[in-house]
Amino acid sequence: MERTFIILKPDALESKNAGNILARIEAEGFRVLGLKLIQMSADDAGRFYAVHKERPFYGDLCKYMSSGPVIVAALEAAGAVQKWRDLIGATDPAQAAPNTIRKLYAKSKEANAVHGSDSVENAKIEIAFFFSERELVG
Ligand code: TYD
Repeated sequence: MERTFIILKPDALESKNAGNILARIEAEGFRVLGLKLIQMSADDAGRFYAVHKERPFYGDLCKYMSSGPVIVAALEAAGAVQKWRDLIGATDPAQAAPNTIRKLYAKSKEANAVHGSDSVENAKIEIAFFFSERELVG
């Protein structure tokens, strides 16, 4: 079994689609290992997205991700990382395939509803960024 890390971003909570996205997570057969509602500081977001430090959108992204509450979760499934990436669709909702979470719920390339780890290794790092082992079910 594989783990991935996800975020329901501020726009998903603002538009009251968190419940719809959590229902989809259950329907698609992911097991939720850990889940919490938090508000990131700009500093938290900066550290979380440090790989994008040199990208032109980094400053706005950090501001955006700390602009309101988010839900962070650790999910488990066979091939969880790719399974979640397939389910969320392309970064830009205009490019996302039909019925993907971003196609259904995202507003723009920045306010794109959800995050998903891009590799098993990054999933481990990202889960550890937000959760202690005690906060994850076995
Ligand atoms: P990226 O890792 O490229 O996308 P993904 O979330 O699909 O793995 O980018 C991380 C986040 O940065 C992305 O979800 C939204 C934001 N972003 C922008 O705001 N503008 C952009 O042009 C890009 C590429 C990303």
